[in-house]
Amino acid sequence: MAIPTHAPGHAAPATAEPAPVVLVTGASRGLGLEFVRQYAADGWSVIACCRHPASASELAALAERHGSIRIEALDITNHEQVDALAAKLAGTAIDLLLNNAGIMGALPFAENLQRQHLGSLDYKLWEQVFRTNTLGTVKMTEAFLELVAASRQKKIISLSSTTGSISESQRPAFAYTSSKTALNKAMTLIAEQLRPRRVIVTLVCPGYVQTRMNVGGATLEAGESVRALRTLVAGLTLEDSGRFLRYDGKTIGW
Ligand SMILES: NC(=O)c1ccc[n+]([C@@H]2O[C@H](COP(=O)([O-])OP(=O)(O)OC[C@H]3O[C@@H](n4cnc5c(N)ncnc54)[C@H](OP(=O)(O)O)[C@@H]3O)[C@@H](O)[C@H]2O)c1
Repeated sequence: MAIPTHAPGHAAPATAEPAPVVLVTGASRGLGLEFVRQYAADGWSVIACCRHPASASELAALAERHGSIRIEALDITNHEQVDALAAKLAGTAIDLLLNNAGIMGALPFAENLQRQHLGSLDYKLWEQVFRTNTLGTVKMTEAFLELVAASRQKKIISLSSTTGSISESQRPAFAYTSSKTALNKAMTLIAEQLRPRRVIVTLVCPGYVQTRMNVGGATLEAGESVRALRTLVAGLTLEDSGRFLRYDGKTIGW
């Protein structure tokens, strides 16, 4: 990993170069909202995508404070909408595509956990989770990769989960965990295909973070996780493409 040119949380030194551009999916809440907050504070130009901009009040308030935040409506399971946004942004070099949007399952999660357990599996729910976490993330990558390849930093980062690791986790939430396992495999294929073009494609786990997805015993606050992830992402090189890394930089077994 390379040393970042400036520490996250501190503004980039004045330069003639344009601000780097990050596109964040699932920016309405949780980690996505925190990525928007921190990258905007750090001087990045942020394309913040969310399903329902009209009800994303915290994101709207952030955009009021930072002119560098542009909000776009985007459901990553809607492939026509994904293609339309990529076409609308044609000519914009995207330094960092942050595939953050994801779902654990039906809400409230604790009450619906049985639907992801053997004996009471809900296959419709499984399809929905797979359509979002796996197919939606791959579709985003496919639609936006030319805009990323045209940028200076050329990074595609996807939020996966240690629970998707076959060797490190036995958590029996079938839909969520297998959707991340499949995402891991797909992104490693993409990493190899894009390596000759020097695009860095890396999977990260944010840790166990207090968001709507994980309210219970989560150990990390979103701000803490995102600060660590931004430092990690800033230091990634082509050697890290195709890897699966925890927010603290440690490699996660497949
Ligand atoms: N929190 C953790 O401990 C943890 C651990 C490992 C991995 N992760 C991963 O981190 C990422 C962010 O999770 P989080 O903890 O911040 O969860 P969260 O608070 O539930 O936020 C999830 C975000 O994804 C959005 N989203 C869901 N489906 C979408 C779709 N079809 N199209 C576009 N956006 C969609 C949600 O939008 P709405 O507001 O419209 O619902 C929301 O903004 C996820 O990929 C998750 O799997 C989280």
